[in-house]
Amino acid sequence: MQLKIFKDYAALSAAAASEIIDLVKNKPNAVLCLASGETPKLTCILAVERAINEKIDFSNITFIGLDEWVGIPPDNDGSCHHFFDTLFIRPLNLPDSQVHLFDGLSGNLQQEVKAMDELIAKKGGIDLVIVGIGMNGHIGFNEPGVSFDLYSHVIDLDEITVTGGQKYFKQATVLKQGITLGLKHLMESKKAILMANSSKKAEVIRKAVKDKVSNELPATIMQQHKNGFVMVDEDAGSLLK
Ligand code: F6R
Repeated sequence: MQLKIFKDYAALSAAAASEIIDLVKNKPNAVLCLASGETPKLTCILAVERAINEKIDFSNITFIGLDEWVGIPPDNDGSCHHFFDTLFIRPLNLPDSQVHLFDGLSGNLQQEVKAMDELIAKKGGIDLVIVGIGMNGHIGFNEPGVSFDLYSHVIDLDEITVTGGQKYFKQATVLKQGITLGLKHLMESKKAILMANSSKKAEVIRKAVKDKVSNELPATIMQQHKNGFVMVDEDAGSLLK
């Protein structure tokens, strides 16, 4: 794993957007997986802006959404689906056939999990995954205590995720479970980037980078990724010096 510290959120986001652009320029049929949330928001905006301005064809990529809240409809503003749709899929006009998001409303979540794992295997793995980090050190919805050996799965959400997750919703929302790619997908990805910004993430980033690798803080697994990057702004990286 390598650490990269950027001056501010804008510089961090521009660098992450460049990773997406370079990937698709070099491999038009790349498999790209993104997290939703506050962290990658500007990355998506900048990547879309550059794709349009530089006329980069995204129509052959495979886009995978990292996770979803179980029981939350796709048109709910707080869903991951809504984030991907408004910030990436629609602005880039990605064909439906190229987009793979978990359906949090599915009556058969195990089928969702199986279908995602089969798709990723069929595509030969993920070329680039960009993830955020929760205040409890989660990646996707791989919560503290999760097995490092899991591919996609359904998981009970940690209290910190349930409370912190309210920020995405207009009204108080019952959040109990998540459906997520597993850390095995992350570790098998050809390139993995964990992004974080703001001083509120400084302590969890310090732990993710410096603490012993342990499933008690799932993001520590990034330390073992052969082509893994932790990219932070100066605020989130302030305890690393
Ligand atoms: C969301 C996801 C989560 C977030 C994490 C940080 O799809 O996978 O793991 O990346 O909770 O969220 P933000 O970026 O909102 O601080």
